[in-house]
Amino acid sequence: MLAHWRSGLPLFLLTTLAPFFAAGHSFENTAIVRTVELGGSVVHVTTTYAVKALEDGASVYTIALGEKEKESTSWLAAKIKGQSVKLHVEQHSLNLDGGVYLYDVNLPAPLKTGGTTNIVVETVQTHVTYPYPEEASQKDGQSLKYESDLLVLSPYDTAVQRTKIRSPFPQIHSYTEPEVEYTQDAAVTKSGATLTYGPYKNIPASSSNQFAAEKQQRIFVHFSYEHPILEITKLERAAEISHWGANLNIQDNINLLNAGPKLKGHFSRLEHQSQSFFQRPAPHMLPGLTLHLPAGIRDVYYYDLVGNVSTSKLRTTSSVPKGSQSNQYSVLELKPRYPIMGGWNYSFTLGWDSPLADSAGWDKESGKWIVGIPVMTLIPGTVVDEEELKIILPEGATDIEFHPPFPALLNRLSTHITYLDTTGRPAITLAYKNLTDKHAGIVYVAYKVPLSAHFKKPVVVATALLGVFALAFVWKRVDTRIQKQK
Ligand SMILES: *[C@@H]1O[C@H](CO)[C@@H](O)[C@H](O)[C@H]1NC(C)=O
Ligand SMILES: *[C@@H]1O[C@H](CO)[C@@H](O)[C@H](O)[C@H]1NC(C)=O
Ligand SMILES: *[C@@H]1O[C@H](CO)[C@@H](O)[C@H](O)[C@H]1NC(C)=O
Repeated sequence: MLAHWRSGLPLFLLTTLAPFFAAGHSFENTAIVRTVELGGSVVHVTTTYAVKALEDGASVYTIALGEKEKESTSWLAAKIKGQSVKLHVEQHSLNLDGGVYLYDVNLPAPLKTGGTTNIVVETVQTHVTYPYPEEASQKDGQSLKYESDLLVLSPYDTAVQRTKIRSPFPQIHSYTEPEVEYTQDAAVTKSGATLTYGPYKNIPASSSNQFAAEKQQRIFVHFSYEHPILEITKLERAAEISHWGANLNIQDNINLLNAGPKLKGHFSRLEHQSQSFFQRPAPHMLPGLTLHLPAGIRDVYYYDLVGNVSTSKLRTTSSVPKGSQSNQYSVLELKPRYPIMGGWNYSFTLGWDSPLADSAGWDKESGKWIVGIPVMTLIPGTVVDEEELKIILPEGATDIEFHPPFPALLNRLSTHITYLDTTGRPAITLAYKNLTDKHAGIVYVAYKVPLSAHFKKPVVVATALLGVFALAFVWKRVDTRIQKQK
């Protein structure tokens, strides 16, 4: 173990330090613009770096995140402005200067000295807002505080930078007005529901612990937020594939938390009813949820700790042929027995069946089945703190492969025994943390099943030879459109 570590280290240092030193001084930022879209449990941040190469062949641009920023960032992607191709991003595995985390972005083509480009980095932050005040009575409003670092860090000199923070609702109660040495003018200006920190000029390379300690500042924004703030503290999804029944069953065990201010005093149904009747209900009260489920589902069930909940409404649509451009989905209006107030948890189970052919294909070349399983059902603006996704394959499945849309924190292959099985069914378990709308992708599973034991019902399979990547392409398009509709 020790020997392995010792012999591994020099190579490890080489690979991580080389790009840093090679790229460290080869750019300058002519401008950095950061836009923060405030939200409840999820905050979207877009940072555009207008960069100029200071040497020929500059192809690796390094971005920096402060420690708190890194901790709360659950998703990061980089593109060239105006293009849709994601650039390869690699985190430095060695944190050279504690407190600042570096990521290398590989540009599509090296720049010549003086060459310019615009790099757009999108991140999603979770758990960066909290209710303030922490408690509210049933008739109070709801406000949040967002906290962030003031300056965008970079290993390069920056000519000018500014950060815009936009609130989705008009009322901003208060915000930090910092002292900043990089400007002669007001450090922050407010226009409607947008705060602009900057422009700040001539900021030296700032990706050092020293800069973070001496020049970086924390800022906060206190704003009014009029939607319930949802957090799924735990999601257990089980997807069970059955060739025998030509069925895919998906079941979610969900722990939902209303992360708004805790309810002061007791819940009054009378107050709730008169509020609903005369005006809009309190923003920190969740009466129900509207979910988009796949087209073609049947036998939908929903129960909580008490039993079946029958107050919900479901509109299903018929199955969509695989690969079609249709973006139909079923709509479930989920209505718990009582409204979920701030600070309350609600645990429930939601499940459904769907024709296996809607998400499965046969790849003739490899002789394998390929099945696409959605990572989760998206609830916009909601963070999933923890997910365990278990995919249960048919009995006797072999040569199992899986391709998650983004790496899982943990994955394992095990055996799942149900009462019908003799030998048990292989199961893939994936663990995730801090999932957001950016993570609503598909896990592709490929496997072989012995012909002898299966296919009582012939499964209708599209004859087109769709490989994993062709499938991924189509599904991605469908997904995007569903998100846009919301
Ligand atoms: C999830 O988010 C919390 C709060 O921001 C953070 O402390 C934690 O490190 C994150 N975990 C992962 C695996 O990203
Ligand atoms: C819930 O509903 C399902 C189907 O409608 C039924 O089979 C089941 O027995 C019900 N369970 C309870 C506890 O009522
Ligand atoms: C709700 O769930 C969270 C996370 O599981 C827990 O920390 C909290 O104490 C729960 N709240 C209540 C009121 O039970």
